[in-house]
Amino acid sequence: MSTERVPLLPISDLPPGTMRYLDIDGLPVGVAHVGATIYAFADTCRHEGGSLSSGVLVDDTVTCPWHGWTYRLSTGKAIVPPVGIRIPVYPTELVDGMIYAYIDWGD
Ligand code: FES
Repeated sequence: MSTERVPLLPISDLPPGTMRYLDIDGLPVGVAHVGATIYAFADTCRHEGGSLSSGVLVDDTVTCPWHGWTYRLSTGKAIVPPVGIRIPVYPTELVDGMIYAYIDWGD
């Protein structure tokens, strides 16, 4: 396993309550600003691949714009439908106004 600290975007480009889509070396990553927390997550819905960052952000949940599956961004777990499906989530940190994510690229 290889985990890389990746710069995502300046916090000034991600106002509270918003999400952005980013292509990180071909990996679709969504990033959301909720309160004082920044979430980074795999931006591909586990149902049919909808872009989650194009969906609806409510508190720390995101709802897919295609058919309504909903995930909790703190854990990646689906809560609609509640079937144990999850998306990868990536730890983040904010340093000097820049958001970074720790992405595990696997082997
Ligand atoms: S593709 Fe996301 S709910 Fe269907």
